[in-house]
Amino acid sequence: MLFEFTHLLALGIPCIVALVVASGLTRRRIYPLPLPPGPRPLPFLGNALQLDTKRPWLTYTAWGKSYGKIIHCRMLGIDLIIINSETIARELLDKRSANYSTRPVIRTNELVGMGFNTALLPYGETLRQHRKIFHQVLRAEVSVSYHEMCSRHANELVINLLDAASDLRQLEHTQAYTASLIMAVTYGHLADGHEESFVTRTHELFDISINVLSPERAAMFTAFPILEKLPFWCFGGAFALMSRGRELSQQLLNEPFSEVKAQIANGTASHSLVADFLSEAHDDADEDMMRDIALSGYMAGIDTSTSALQIFLLAMVLYPDVQARARTEIDRAVRHDRMPCLDDRASLPYIDAILREVLRWYPLIPLGVPHATSNDDVYGGYFIPKGAIVMVNQWALSRDEDMFPDASRFDPSRHLTADGKLKDPFVNHFAFGHGRRICPGRWFAENSLWTAAATILAVMRIDHAKDSNGNRIEVKPEFTAGLVIQPQPFHCSFESVNTVREGHLREMMECTGWQGFEASESLSVSVWRGIG
Ligand code: HEM
Ligand SMILES: *[C@@H]1O[C@H](CO)[C@@H](O)[C@H](O)[C@H]1NC(C)=O
Ligand SMILES: *[C@@H]1O[C@H](CO)[C@@H](O)[C@H](O)[C@H]1NC(C)=O
Repeated sequence: MLFEFTHLLALGIPCIVALVVASGLTRRRIYPLPLPPGPRPLPFLGNALQLDTKRPWLTYTAWGKSYGKIIHCRMLGIDLIIINSETIARELLDKRSANYSTRPVIRTNELVGMGFNTALLPYGETLRQHRKIFHQVLRAEVSVSYHEMCSRHANELVINLLDAASDLRQLEHTQAYTASLIMAVTYGHLADGHEESFVTRTHELFDISINVLSPERAAMFTAFPILEKLPFWCFGGAFALMSRGRELSQQLLNEPFSEVKAQIANGTASHSLVADFLSEAHDDADEDMMRDIALSGYMAGIDTSTSALQIFLLAMVLYPDVQARARTEIDRAVRHDRMPCLDDRASLPYIDAILREVLRWYPLIPLGVPHATSNDDVYGGYFIPKGAIVMVNQWALSRDEDMFPDASRFDPSRHLTADGKLKDPFVNHFAFGHGRRICPGRWFAENSLWTAAATILAVMRIDHAKDSNGNRIEVKPEFTAGLVIQPQPFHCSFESVNTVREGHLREMMECTGWQGFEASESLSVSVWRGIG
């Protein structure tokens, strides 16, 4: 792991203390009002040593119990504001979005080759252009038009899960599902080996850069830009990793793009964000931006959607009653020999409630993506300084017992009214963030998750796997650490409960040696007009 925080501290403390002393970084502005309450910072290091570095959201949630819904702490001279309440998140990040929509300036983004990434851009013209393009390809109406494509891939996912040997790797099919959908939307279809190699390398880049996104680590580099100039022995392999990151991002930005160009030249390109852009007149600057947008979308979409799908499967193993109720709902609303489709969605509110609960039960980006303030502000009598990093602690929101009684229990019915209607639209879920940085892929995520969940539940039962002695293998909800958390690989089994539907899926897969998704009117709008 890059910059494992404790490791970094252990190795870097002598240098840092010297720097702090030398640079006068400890001098603070005098604020006109008190900062929000929080733990007392230590000199130099602030609260850095008090953190659970693997799961800082747990520390922030615990602090919230002592200090309240909005807290302040300091990491190495940077002010962190942590919001532990959905109401306050909306008050500040939504209602005062003009002042809360930039990102922390993190020198390491560039160093690791992530300067192109939409999610890390400061608020400004480039970001607005990126978001405009995302909106054109991923907004609600367009996302619905991908349903046909999602269905084909969901069918394939179900067959793959049914046919897979029951081992820890079987869940890798969920990644293939999300990767192929997002690939189709951004680049269309690349030659077989190329898609795989793209996915693997994107993962590598993501792993390298994910640590850079951790605000606690970012604080360190922002506070001490000089760290990047320190000799390699201070940080072990970090520098080698950084240059690997830059190399990967250049490859990933350029290769698929060039391939789509070649496909356009020989007339084999399928409709996609990049293909539609390239087939229209454009200049080089636009081309660079489109490269950045395509890779950003791909990277932002893949691990998040995959994790959500795996959390769904995990919940289904652990809560068989929920699964049974969902299946009953499907069998009541959809003919026994037909697959549920978008037209059925309105009559399947419980499936939607399950998806909302998936994002609530284990928020997969527990601290969201950090925002930063572009102006001083005052909230509830507390001072919020310009340049502070603002994080919405989704973990704390999800564990708010006033909102979600018995919060650690997976219970979709909490999202339904007494007469069985859905309370809130999926895309308003706190898991998608807030304000002007809210996830632009949320409708697409909604559609791909809904289609996968409905298809899976309509065809098979998910259960505990059995070991070689026939004993059931217990499963616990355990997660990886990081910016985006995923369930640790877990054992489960899949069994067909509707052979008619299963048969249809197998037939469909045989007769379509299928050619990507069909040209969709809405996607061929000239997305690039948004640029420049
Ligand atoms: C369950 C799936 C997903 C979840 C939970 C999720 C969540 C998030 C969150 C929390 C943010 C940061 C919001 C903020 O700063 O307040 C974000 C940003 C973003 N997401 Fe998603 N996302 C998901 C799927 C996707 C997909 C499928 C795509 C694209 C295909 C996507 C594209 C993006 C982009 C480009 C950003 C950066 C926006 C910006 O910084 O302005 N996401 N997402
Ligand atoms: C942003 O901050 C400035 C300066 O404090 C203030 O005048 C302005 O009203 C704030 N904007 C919003 C949208 O809150
Ligand atoms: C068209 O170009 C792509 C990209 O170079 C290549 O993979 C594909 O095989 C070519 N197809 C034909 C029919 O020439």
